[in-house]
Amino acid sequence: MAYHTDAGLAPVDGRPAEAVQYCAMSNLRSNIVTWLGRKYFSRIHRNGFDLSKMSFLPDATLAPLRREGLDPVADLSRTRAKEPISKLPLPFGINAWLVTGYDESKAVLGKAKGFSSDFTNLAERNIGVAAQQNPGGLGFSDPPVHTRLRRLLTPEFTMRRLSRLTPRIHAIVEERLDAMAAAEGPVDLVEAFALPIPALVICELLGVPYEDREDFQRHSTARFDLFGGANASFGAMSDQLAYLHGIVRKQRETPGDGLLGMLVKEHGDDLDDQELAGLADGVLTGGLETTASMLALGTLVLLQAPDQFAAMRDRDEVVDPFVEELLRYLTVVQVAFPRFAREDMEIGGTKISTGDLVLCSLSGANRDEKLGPDMERVDPHRQSSSHLAFGHGIHRCIGAELARMELRAAYPALVRRFPHMRLAGPAEQLSFRKLSIVYGVDELPVVLG
Ligand code: HEM
Repeated sequence: MAYHTDAGLAPVDGRPAEAVQYCAMSNLRSNIVTWLGRKYFSRIHRNGFDLSKMSFLPDATLAPLRREGLDPVADLSRTRAKEPISKLPLPFGINAWLVTGYDESKAVLGKAKGFSSDFTNLAERNIGVAAQQNPGGLGFSDPPVHTRLRRLLTPEFTMRRLSRLTPRIHAIVEERLDAMAAAEGPVDLVEAFALPIPALVICELLGVPYEDREDFQRHSTARFDLFGGANASFGAMSDQLAYLHGIVRKQRETPGDGLLGMLVKEHGDDLDDQELAGLADGVLTGGLETTASMLALGTLVLLQAPDQFAAMRDRDEVVDPFVEELLRYLTVVQVAFPRFAREDMEIGGTKISTGDLVLCSLSGANRDEKLGPDMERVDPHRQSSSHLAFGHGIHRCIGAELARMELRAAYPALVRRFPHMRLAGPAEQLSFRKLSIVYGVDELPVVLG
């Protein structure tokens, strides 16, 4: 059951208030605890809800966002071995589950009717966000809205439509390599290679000016990074949406050749500005930080394993399976969007009740032995595994093929152009995101050789 904080104990599930207020004593007690918790959270929220300062949150709650270098923290695999669906210790009556098992994650993500991704769930529970911060778009919507919006976007992401971008992607990669070759001294691979490639590709795809990249790159990084606190994260989201509303207005006046222009031309009357900005936001944010992190962290894997570096450089037939293995091993989107149970159910023997919050740890699930043997290790020759790096079910990543195209073009081109590239300093000194939904490295200084 969900409560609005400001309304005290007023229920919002349609039942009359009296029916709830006079229920059994134990229910009343737990309601009071819940209500106090909401008040506490709302105070924290007003004062700046800051996860990095929320030391009272048990470590187990933050474990899915933490890593040791490239690996999920060991606690996560211990939890998975013991309880692939475990109680997530959130304070004050928020009933939450962490799913670390592969089969169990697939079951949750595949059960669209049983779970809601709607943003209003977060706002209703007052988890540091307000309803008006709803970014819209695909990720935070349920059918039938999600079905309608996804149908409009899907034709643009088929292999046939995307293949027209192939020459452009290769040209963008080559331009970046030329710029790196012209630079003197060590180069930050994040700044020079990993970020600009997806930024340029997404700008072309959407029809958004590349000159604005500094703004949207900053917004994309900040919104996934809970280390700056939930307020900073949702503030970045609002800024991004305000920026995209401006772009949408321009595209309405003069539709361009990109995806936004196409949506305006073909479906402009069926989509309001909020929906258009939300769709653009999903593509811009979904496609930037994720692919950039994959490029930087994947390169780090290659730099630390000379045999794998050589395999990517010399063996064309290894590139596709190796990219797939890097996607699985790195699983940069560490957790899926929160799901909320719509009904009582049992998954993998665990009872989940209506309204419970369920968080799927994709990085945990992708290291599960159920997916195959020796999943803690990178194996460039691994026969394809049905990993969950792009999610599963109706919200599965719409840009998966585009991301693959970028990674398959960029890694081999990089190691072929700079066969003697090495890290500019010890790997132990690299600084990684501390509490970010999308894992990444802040900088990757390399010597090109
Ligand atoms: C390596 C790069 C990428 C990774 C690892 C990744 C990962 C994911 C994951 C795990 C989800 C599902 C989240 C959930 O179920 O809660 C997702 C959804 C999504 N991704 Fe990606 N993504 C990547 C690249 C892209 C690109 C290039 C685009 C667009 C051009 C994109 C756009 C989206 C959108 C719009 C959604 C929401 C889909 C829906 O809810 O129907 N992503 N992504």
